[in-house]
Amino acid sequence: MDGKRVLLIVGGGIAAYKVLDLVRRLRERGVSVRTVLTQAGAQFVTPLSLASLSGNPVHTDLFSLTDEAQMGHIELSRSADLVVVAPATADLLAKAANGLANDLASTLLLATDKRVLMVPAMNVRMWQHPATQRNVAQLQRDGILFVGPDDGAMACGEFGPGRMSEVLDIVVAIDAAFRMQARAQQQQAPGILAGKRVIITSGPTYEPIDPVRYIANRSSGKQGHAIAEAAARAGADVLLVCGPVAIPDPVGVTCVHVESAREMLGAVEAGLPADIYIGAAAVADWRVGTAVVEKLKKGASGPPSLGLVENPDILATISTHQKRPVLVVGFAAETQTVVEHAQAKLKKKKCDLIIANDVSAQSGVMGGDENTVHLVSKSGVDHWPRMAKTAVAQRLVEHLAKLLKEGA
Ligand code: CTP
Repeated sequence: MDGKRVLLIVGGGIAAYKVLDLVRRLRERGVSVRTVLTQAGAQFVTPLSLASLSGNPVHTDLFSLTDEAQMGHIELSRSADLVVVAPATADLLAKAANGLANDLASTLLLATDKRVLMVPAMNVRMWQHPATQRNVAQLQRDGILFVGPDDGAMACGEFGPGRMSEVLDIVVAIDAAFRMQARAQQQQAPGILAGKRVIITSGPTYEPIDPVRYIANRSSGKQGHAIAEAAARAGADVLLVCGPVAIPDPVGVTCVHVESAREMLGAVEAGLPADIYIGAAAVADWRVGTAVVEKLKKGASGPPSLGLVENPDILATISTHQKRPVLVVGFAAETQTVVEHAQAKLKKKKCDLIIANDVSAQSGVMGGDENTVHLVSKSGVDHWPRMAKTAVAQRLVEHLAKLLKEGA
C-alpha cells in the first residue's frame, strides 16, 4: 500500500468517528489520504481532526474558491488511486447510483475515473429498504466495490445488518482494491516481449541404455520452466522443449516433451525461427552408441561396456544455425571456476550470453528453489545475488527484452 493515494469521502453517520482511526491506519501503511467531508459528516467529525490526522486540508464545499484555486474538484477526484466512501450513507449511495451531483462528494463520485469503494453504514431498515438495495445492485453493476455492512447492534438500538465494517477490515478491502488495480494494469500493458518468439529447453535428457535403463542427471527443470513462464507473462510466444521432469507445464506456453538430446535438438529446430533461444536444459553429453533393444542381462563376461558417443551440442548448433535467433543464451552448470568455464563456453559455443551457476552439492542449486547466477557475455560479467529461481527468470526476461530493444 506504501505510496498509494486515497481520497476519503466522509458521509454523515455515527460511524464517522471510526474514519479517524481509518486515516491513521492508512497513513501508518504509507498511504497518503485526502479527505472530503459532507455537510452531514461535519455533524459527526470536525474538519480539524481530519486535517490533523491526514496531514492534508479537508475539502467540504463544491463552490469553495480557495479549494478550487488550490486543487479543482475534477483534479481532486482523479488525483487518488482509490476513492473510499466511509460511512457511505443511504443518501450518498442513492446519489451515486443515480448520478446526482449536487454537492462536492456526489460531484467527485461522478467525476472520478478511479475505482470507488463504498463502506455502507446505516440503520438496518434503511439498509434493507428496496430502494437502498436497488441502489447497491446498480452500483455493483457499475463496478463499485463494497465492504460491509456488518451485522450487529446499532447505535440506534436496533440489531441487524447496517453497522460499518471494522477499521482493519476496511484496510484489508482497500489493499485488495489496490491489488486488483495492479493486476488489471499488468494485463492491459503490452508485455515487454510482446510479438517475440522464445524457444527454451528445460530439464534433463534421458539417454537410453536399454528398454529399462537410462543415463540421466539431477536437473529439476525449475529454472528453465520459470523462465518460460516469465517470458509468457511478458507477452512472448513461448515454445518450451522439456526433458522428463516432475513439475507441471508452465501456464501460457506451448510445451513439447522429449526424452533424449537428439529429440530435444529436433524439437528446437522444428520450432525455429525465433527471436531468442535459451538453453536451460542439462543436456546429456553422451549417449550409448549402439541402441539396445532387449534388456541387458548379467552374464559371465561381467559388466557391459556402454560404448558412449557424444551427443549433438544443441546450443552450439543453434548458435551457428541458418535460422539463428537474434539472441542465443546458454547455461553453464559448474562445480568450480564457474566464471572461467562459462567464458570458455561462450566462445566455444558462439552464443551471446551464458548464465553461469555453481551446481556443486553445497550450493543446493540442483533441485532447490534458489540460484546464484553470473551473466557472462563478451562485454563482461554481471554477478547477480542469490535469489529465487522465479526472480532470476523475471530479471533475465527483462534483461533479454532490453538487449533485443537495443538491437542485441
Ligand atoms: N548444451 C547443449 N547440448 C549439449 C550439451 C550442453 O545444448 N549436448 C547446452 C546446455 O543446455 C547449456 C550449455 O550447453 O546451455 C552448457 O551446458 P553444460 O552442461 O554446462 O556444458 P557442456 O557443454 O556440457 O560442458 P561440460 O559438461 O564439459 O561442462
